Amino acid sequence: MTRRIPQAGLDLLEPVCDYHVLAESGVPGREDVIRAAEGVDGILSLLTERMDAAVMDAAPGLKVIANYAVGFDNIDLGEARRRGVIVTNTPGVLTETTADFAWALIMAAARRIVEGDEEVRSGRWRTWEPQGLLGVDIHGAVLGVVGYGRIGQAVARRGAGFGMEVIFHDPTESGSVPLDELLRRADIISLHVPLTPATRHLIDGGRLRLCKPTAVLVNTSRGGVVDQQALAEALAAGTIFGAGLDVFEEEPLPPGHPLCRLRNVVLAPHIASASRATRDRMAVMAASNLLAALRGETPPNLVVRP
Ligand code: DGY
Repeated sequence: MTRRIPQAGLDLLEPVCDYHVLAESGVPGREDVIRAAEGVDGILSLLTERMDAAVMDAAPGLKVIANYAVGFDNIDLGEARRRGVIVTNTPGVLTETTADFAWALIMAAARRIVEGDEEVRSGRWRTWEPQGLLGVDIHGAVLGVVGYGRIGQAVARRGAGFGMEVIFHDPTESGSVPLDELLRRADIISLHVPLTPATRHLIDGGRLRLCKPTAVLVNTSRGGVVDQQALAEALAAGTIFGAGLDVFEEEPLPPGHPLCRLRNVVLAPHIASASRATRDRMAVMAASNLLAALRGETPPNLVVRP
């Protein structure tokens, strides 16, 4: 196990297998991960560790990599397939929690909650202002969901409660609108696509220029889906109203990054799935996947089958 997961998952592993937690806190070093992989039958990995050929080479008997995340862009699936290593993830259990958080970012960015909080705390708040901290309305707005899988649909369902018109882009679903059209029409844009070579910088400078100057962009998927530099420029120039980001091209976001100097972006440290109950469910699911594969059964949440 590259890093310690909640006890609910460890409780499943403890009676039946000999496991080692590589890093109690923080991210383990790359060389430590490779060394720790030597001779193991299974790896329970986090999205912070790259599971590639070097790691798999260290463990010739490796049967399974059970990722403690729904996303699996940290795993080289081609290498796993070539070696017959099973890969699993934790879908479903974090859908609603992540959708809740996408909404927290939507509301915070559209209604400038963090800026308001700073004003109050710092004592800079003087009076009720007819034109102070004006935001954009959410009710009745057009919600554009990019990627209409489980989480995208859960975000859309919440939009219905705000009387929003929901449009989505997802070529695998009927009713999908072209991405450029969605970006032109949407007031609130929420991203829910996995990071793949096809989705890297899906939202680049050109696409940001299609957005309304009043639009709010929220990303709870993977940082690489957005060209972060282009987004920082668009936010600074005011060609887009605001953004809420839970994920970044490089995590943690390097100190002094241009995004940190902007007030019209709300920044969160990749916590969309971070409720106690959901992290417990993810731990149980990841441990169950791992154990099923080690027992020679088909794990319920297969990404790469044996
Ligand atoms: C995931 O599961 O992929 C999230 O990014 C973290 O919960």
